[in-house]
Amino acid sequence: MKGKGGAARAVAARAGAKVEAGMHLPQALDQALRHSGLEPRDRGFATEITYGSERWRSLLDYSLRPHLRRPLKTLDPTVRSLLRQGTYQLLKLGLPAYAVVDSSTEAAALCGAGAARGLVNAVLRRVAEQGQPALPEHDGEALALRYAHPLWLVRRWVERLGREGAEALLRRNQEVPQLVLRVNRTRTTMAQSIATFAAAGIAVREVQDLPWAIALHAGGDVPALPGFGQGDWQVQDVGAQAVGEAVGQAEFFLESACGRGTKTLQQAERQPGRVAGVDVDADRLREAEIERRRLGLTAEFHASDARSLPDELTGADAVLLDAPCSTLGVVQRRPDVKWRRQPAEFARRTALQVELLRAAVAACRPGGVITYSVCSQEPEETTVPIEEMLQSGDLRLVEAAPPCAQAPLEVGFLLPGMFMAQLRRVH
Ligand SMILES: C[S@@+](CC[C@H](N)C(=O)[O-])C[C@H]1O[C@@H](n2cnc3c(N)ncnc32)[C@H](O)[C@@H]1O
Repeated sequence: MKGKGGAARAVAARAGAKVEAGMHLPQALDQALRHSGLEPRDRGFATEITYGSERWRSLLDYSLRPHLRRPLKTLDPTVRSLLRQGTYQLLKLGLPAYAVVDSSTEAAALCGAGAARGLVNAVLRRVAEQGQPALPEHDGEALALRYAHPLWLVRRWVERLGREGAEALLRRNQEVPQLVLRVNRTRTTMAQSIATFAAAGIAVREVQDLPWAIALHAGGDVPALPGFGQGDWQVQDVGAQAVGEAVGQAEFFLESACGRGTKTLQQAERQPGRVAGVDVDADRLREAEIERRRLGLTAEFHASDARSLPDELTGADAVLLDAPCSTLGVVQRRPDVKWRRQPAEFARRTALQVELLRAAVAACRPGGVITYSVCSQEPEETTVPIEEMLQSGDLRLVEAAPPCAQAPLEVGFLLPGMFMAQLRRVH
């Protein structure tokens, strides 16, 4: 066990260092795991401590600081990750001190930081002895640390949602999310899918208001789950599925800025006619195509800037724009996002959304509906661009609530982790 514990921790530390260097968490973990040779259980452990230490990053750093002679930020990123992840195991997972200290020290050597073995050993020993220090008296700072979010973001949410609303959001963001799947209705049925999971000893539950969703507790290894290779389902969160289910029937459906194509493929399962997705990122489109084949669906993917679409992609009955955004609505699933954002970026976001929305309107036939969504609930990328679009008089707000709507706003709806508004093109 000793050697294995060190190897899993070394892999996680490498992933953590990549995240700090700017890589997105799923890609960083994927790269670190790829040639690791770890067994499934150790892969699961590496995944758990990589995600957990990102989820609790600022609180873990706060617990480490009293035991360091030099600032944490001046340490080698891999060593910093080892310390953070070791502190996570001690304070949040409650693992025994001897196991955490020994294996983390061993991991330091395994990831080329042998010189820091003494430091890792001594600091984690002290964290184990002294636990988490008392939080500051200042309410905002204490809230930010207790739920491990940047202070500026906590202030922003307290201002908008009130203290209670902000705390509820912060608490939810810190919960480990369930994995949600969309069952491929062209391949199987809900009953069959649920039976397949049950036969594998995996408990799943249905999701209220979403006829094709099932939720389960599962670690990182999605392709190992039953039915993946058969194309029986695709991973898609509740809010995202709800957006797709709100799209009306269309002879020609277009998704503008379709990314890896999850929502386009959902429409390929729902729509009788032509289904197309367009994105500027060729790598994402390649992944979309791989998923299309796995699911056995018919859909076209085009590489283009969605702000100037080719003629062949205009005249759609329904256009979905799931726009690039701060992604602050998915912090629960992607804890690295909250450390990436900057307060100044929001002001810039409205202009891009309006530009993409104008192009989506131009691609929609008169009488058709444009569905706009973002995995964020920040006004600059939700209500503000929609209000700006409504000023032209060429669009009318669709009032019908989507499935899973949490709260109607003046323009649009909040869904779990998301915002959605639908606009009918009048002229
Ligand atoms: C939120 S993601 C879309 C996710 C997708 N709807 C899904 O469910 O998988 C936003 C996408 O916008 C794309 N994007 C950003 N600017 C764009 C532009 N000018 N034209 C086309 N796509 C763009 C990004 O490449 C990214 O894939």
